Amino acid sequence: MREIEDRAAQAYRDRFGEAPEVVASAPGRINLIGEHTDYNGGFVLPCAVERRVAVAASRGGNELYSADFDEARPMTKSRDSSWADYPRGVAWAIGEAGYKSGAFRAAFAGDVPQGAGLSSSAAIEAATALALDALFGLGVDRKDLAVLCQRAENEFVGVNSGIMDQYASLLCEKGAALLVDCRSLEARSVPLDLRSAGLALLVCDTRVERGLADTGYNDRRAACERAARILGVEQLRDAREEDLGRLSGEELERARHIVTENARVLEAVEALREEDFRELGSLMYASHASMRDDFEISTPELDLFVELAREAGAPGARLTGAGFGGCAIALTSDSDTLSRNVRQKFAGRGFEEPAFYEFRPASGAEVVR
Ligand code: GLA
Repeated sequence: MREIEDRAAQAYRDRFGEAPEVVASAPGRINLIGEHTDYNGGFVLPCAVERRVAVAASRGGNELYSADFDEARPMTKSRDSSWADYPRGVAWAIGEAGYKSGAFRAAFAGDVPQGAGLSSSAAIEAATALALDALFGLGVDRKDLAVLCQRAENEFVGVNSGIMDQYASLLCEKGAALLVDCRSLEARSVPLDLRSAGLALLVCDTRVERGLADTGYNDRRAACERAARILGVEQLRDAREEDLGRLSGEELERARHIVTENARVLEAVEALREEDFRELGSLMYASHASMRDDFEISTPELDLFVELAREAGAPGARLTGAGFGGCAIALTSDSDTLSRNVRQKFAGRGFEEPAFYEFRPASGAEVVR
């Protein structure tokens, strides 16, 4: 077991005085490329990171315990706007889908940075879903579990997210990114061997509170839907670059990002197949520019990180996740120098001190006991 899984199992034993029947864990994610494309029926290319949420659980009882907050909450059908809404939502969605689960008690521990845009919420959902599937022998496949987790997030927690984060947490494989067609919900692993190319994936958490994230996210969704309506297509996935001339203003800018971003994801997969990391990187820079100028979800901190990565000769960098703060990523052969320089320049500009993580593409959710 990983350390975090041990911690959940130990917390369970301390709290409930016995060993848990099941221990499961699920990772957070970064997205290599393909931002805000998921709810437009398009393509995304996330990979799991080496930070996880673990859950230890048994049948019976009705308590949820968080080792991180040292806090117990009842397993109810109602919400209280706390971390417990995620496992509650997953249990609710499983019931709504007609599966027979039952009462359970569980202890959670996690090391996915929270509120940074690394999908700690998808990780707790995915870990809970997999644990409940094992506890009650539901036999639900992972894609369906991911859809249940998204439903929990949309309808129970009340956040209008797409399918990317839950898919990444449940379906990613070690050493690979995951290409997801968010319309057909087909997914396949794309090998991502950075190490043999002498590269690492550096994540910079700008520590900018994603305060406007919810309104900004919903505004972007609404603008994309308006653009699709004007173009007479079901989703922007179906729009082509030559259609964009029929749009103007905000709808044009938002749609241009989605249409070009979908194309970039497929080109990125091709670049990875050819192990052409320079090409992958330039697609990442182009993606960032599109998010900064057309989708308008970047911040001065994210832009500065990407600029410094470019100046340092990093093959690629971009913001990752919903935007409006949170994290950016860079492909780099020298994480130490880049992060040192970024720290210095952030201080000089009076920005919050950023946090850095170096990740290798990690495994998706697992039942470990
Ligand atoms: C958040 C959402 C995802 C996706 C990204 C942007 O992470 O949860 O569904 O829309 O933003 O790509």
